[in-house]
Amino acid sequence: MHPVDFIERKRDGAAHDAAELQDWISAYVAGEVPDYQMAAWLMAVYFQGMTPAETSELTLAMAHSGETLDLSTLGKTVDKHSSGGVGDKTTLVVAPILAAAGLVVAKMSGRGLAHTGGTIDKLESIPGWRAELSDEEFMRQARTVGLVISGQSKNLAPADGKMYALRDVTGTVPSIPLIASSIMSKKLAAGASIITLDVKVGKGAFMKDVAHARELARLMVQIGRHAGREVRAVLSQMDQPLGRAVGNAIEVREAIATLRGEGPRDLSELSLALAAEAMQAAGIDTELARQVWDDGSALTKLRDFITAQGGDGRVVEEPQRLELAADVEEVLAAQDGVVAQLDAYKIGIAALRLGGGRESKGARIDHGVGIYLEKKIGDRVSAGEPLARLYHRRGKGLSEAVELVTAAYSYGDSAVEPPLILEVVA
Ligand code: URA
Repeated sequence: MHPVDFIERKRDGAAHDAAELQDWISAYVAGEVPDYQMAAWLMAVYFQGMTPAETSELTLAMAHSGETLDLSTLGKTVDKHSSGGVGDKTTLVVAPILAAAGLVVAKMSGRGLAHTGGTIDKLESIPGWRAELSDEEFMRQARTVGLVISGQSKNLAPADGKMYALRDVTGTVPSIPLIASSIMSKKLAAGASIITLDVKVGKGAFMKDVAHARELARLMVQIGRHAGREVRAVLSQMDQPLGRAVGNAIEVREAIATLRGEGPRDLSELSLALAAEAMQAAGIDTELARQVWDDGSALTKLRDFITAQGGDGRVVEEPQRLELAADVEEVLAAQDGVVAQLDAYKIGIAALRLGGGRESKGARIDHGVGIYLEKKIGDRVSAGEPLARLYHRRGKGLSEAVELVTAAYSYGDSAVEPPLILEVVA
């Protein structure tokens, strides 16, 4: 296959077949196709699109471009993925529920990007907890605890890493087939038989409207089926942050409170919905999710998981062991009213400025800083009342964060909380 012919075919709107796509991806990973040709092809895909069948074959080729995890000896395994949101700590709630219900949750997880946090960063706020596990440790913990979450230590879907870096600098990120193949190639390589996707929609999310989110979700479900996996997607609202805590340690505290039955309603509702989708896919009565939550076995599972990865399991009973920054600033309401909007993107950036996220790849983050939202959409406020508490380190990033949090709130005479779960795609 000549790269120029291949690019021209897509430029002119033709569909590629499986063999062509495999050759293209393996030649790219081997360095035989240079970045400028891949970039031209990505732009052709951006304009011409791909059929679902083509996208599935592209995803398989990307998934097999590096190492893959074989979890087949573990029985029914679950992976849960979020397309990225603000205050999104659902994995910390859902994974223990599923493991307590008898499923095996064995997943590799990422660090935070831009204004959205990553599960590994959150977990690293637990004293002693480590993300790096050997293959043997990963498989042993999956078998003995039923729950293991490690960092991306393996060379999973390297084609995606290279292609994403190019898309980022060539204006080709927002293409639904390219996003779907990027996400699903990593999920397929990570080996779980059941994949639950939380596709966020709204101001704080990658997908700003339901129509595009639905298209993405349907495509990802189709790709998963083509690869023999059970995939379900929940479309959830991300106009305002999920829960009230945004940061790292502060989010782990909120996840623990939620497993105790003392968490915010939206986080509980979404966690239960995601757990139910995975359980349905596994053929388990979804009532069990509620049961293991109520009887405390999900919380015990969280402690066992933390301890197995070297962390201080006492945080589950004593969340104050998760250190929060000692300096606290309250942002006060300037007027009376009802919170009509609470911009998740602005809150995410505020947490980033305080040091809770990475401004550049590889930067260190401060696990103790963060934001607690006293008021969310639909709450009534009086002038001078606290809207949010900002945990900061000696004023670092504080003035900008205060400005962003203040600007994130807007008011009306009344407001209706937007529905959290917009759709399920199965
Ligand atoms: N997340 C990914 O992993 N890939 C994309 O292309 C977009 C979001």
